[in-house]
Amino acid sequence: MSKIAAFIKELALPVVAAPMFLISGPQLVIECCKNGIVGTFPALNQRSTEGFEDWLVEIKTELKKFEKETGKKAAPFGVNLIVHPTNPRLEADLKVCIKHKIPLIITSLGAVAQVVDAIHSYGGLVFHDIIKKRHAEKAAEAGVDGLILVAVGAGGHAGTINPMSLVAEIKKFYDKTILLSGCISNGRDIASALQMGADLAYMGTRFINTEESKATEEYRQMIIKAGASDVVYTAAISGVHANFLGASLKAAGITEEDLKKDRKIDFGKELNTEAKAWKTIWSAGQGVTTINNVESVSKLVANLKSEFKSAIEDQIKILEIYPK
Ligand SMILES: Cc1cc2nc3c(=O)[nH]c(=O)nc-3n(C[C@H](O)[C@H](O)[C@H](O)COP(=O)(O)O)c2cc1C
Repeated sequence: MSKIAAFIKELALPVVAAPMFLISGPQLVIECCKNGIVGTFPALNQRSTEGFEDWLVEIKTELKKFEKETGKKAAPFGVNLIVHPTNPRLEADLKVCIKHKIPLIITSLGAVAQVVDAIHSYGGLVFHDIIKKRHAEKAAEAGVDGLILVAVGAGGHAGTINPMSLVAEIKKFYDKTILLSGCISNGRDIASALQMGADLAYMGTRFINTEESKATEEYRQMIIKAGASDVVYTAAISGVHANFLGASLKAAGITEEDLKKDRKIDFGKELNTEAKAWKTIWSAGQGVTTINNVESVSKLVANLKSEFKSAIEDQIKILEIYPK
């Protein structure tokens, strides 16, 4: 069995809970892995490499304890590294990932062969997120094990391409693992992603509204109230186009004029500015439209499983209408 097939086989549901700036931490990751889906977090959610390593140790210790106590296997977990010249922590954070043999590394912005090789050297997997074909070609060249296709409407730095076209376009030249991202909020959406040709669903926004996320109650309530058309796509906050809740832009006094401005992305001296911005201006994808509650990861995963199963059973029933 290939490394990636073994990775997928360990899961109770074909889902990766995507890394989210200021939102995902050890609690969310641990609960996801205990419930059979991949938990992830961005390394930059900790202020220093030392703090980042503390989180890794906490996650590994808790999951080991869980496995020992229950006899069950926890799903693998992953870390998101920003591969960008302005990220001063990349080298140190990567070293720590290698030291702890992190099963999955998700690279964003840059796909670099040396980084991929370093992760492969200890048997880790690398997924890279992309919003367009040119980025996917570069990442494929760098030797990544899977591509995360970030389609239109996703939370965070979203793309602009329809998911059906994006999957079709990438599958023309890439035959490794495909993860689909953007507005996947329930079990039926997960089944749809697989129908479109993805191997795994990559879900962000839905996990903001879990008890284990680091989001404030106000943020979660704003997601519950919002519909798809309340999400605003702008480069003004982060320097790269991203989706934000319109109500949080309004509450922060951001005007239409402000939204037209462009900022330069910078993970170095401006990380604090970035953190301040994302603390008050809240990102979410158009998938908010089907998010109506806050629940524990374990309840959410149980619901996703049953919705996923009935969506597939419904699809099979369609064959009774169209048998030939
Ligand atoms: C609040 C928020 C913060 C995010 N931060 C990151 C991040 O730090 N790194 C990253 O690779 N993706 C980040 N993303 C994108 C997610 O990893 C994922 O691609 C996206 O949420 C999937 O779309 P969905 O939200 O519609 O499910 C973020 C998304 C959100 C909503």
